[in-house]
Amino acid sequence: MPSGDERFRVSRRSFIQTLGASAAAGALQSKAAALVETRQPDGASSPPTFGPGPVDIDLKINGKKTTLKVEPATTLLEALRLHAGLTGSKEVCDRGSCGGCSVIIDGKLTVSCMVLAVDAIGSEITTVEGLAKGDDLDPIQAAFVKHDALQCGYCTPGFIVASRSLLNDIPKPTLDQIKHWLSGNICRCGTYTNIFNAVLEASGQPPVADSKPPALPGKVD
Ligand code: FES
Ligand code: FES
Repeated sequence: MPSGDERFRVSRRSFIQTLGASAAAGALQSKAAALVETRQPDGASSPPTFGPGPVDIDLKINGKKTTLKVEPATTLLEALRLHAGLTGSKEVCDRGSCGGCSVIIDGKLTVSCMVLAVDAIGSEITTVEGLAKGDDLDPIQAAFVKHDALQCGYCTPGFIVASRSLLNDIPKPTLDQIKHWLSGNICRCGTYTNIFNAVLEASGQPPVADSKPPALPGKVD
């Protein structure tokens, strides 16, 4: 099982380092550069340039090709929410520490606020909107409903995506594995027990019982 930091494919440090190399140059590597290369006129030998103005990119989001025009420094989270209209992924901390913006990229749980949209070119991106099949909820979504695993709901899409990612990798996780995997997602309402129960339910395991609160002094049951 990956460690807490390894669950997410992009660390805050690596993201900042990438930004530090300039959004217009250092961030546009590998797949993005390759894509631009293919857009050069035949025979062109000069290196590709990208930005600083908006650029057209194709992203594969929930199985569909989506063409967006974004600034090179646009994060994947911004691209999803502001350009693609997919607002399920939530911007909470915007610095890789809460998991509210969780998506799955090429099978890896990823915080989308720490990825540049241009670096997601050529990848399979799955957001919370891509989990249900028509009217049929993904089993983890149905389990969240059954176990009332939310209060304000703001953290919920991130938890659902992270839980889906866990179940993809470990179909029957132990409670400790669930807690460990979801340790990068923060619920300010403190709905953790119900969330853990939802994951247990979706993996065909019995839920844990809520611990009984300690008896008040002088109170007789
Ligand atoms: S908004 Fe991305 S981790 Fe918090
Ligand atoms: S349900 Fe409110 S932050 Fe988690």
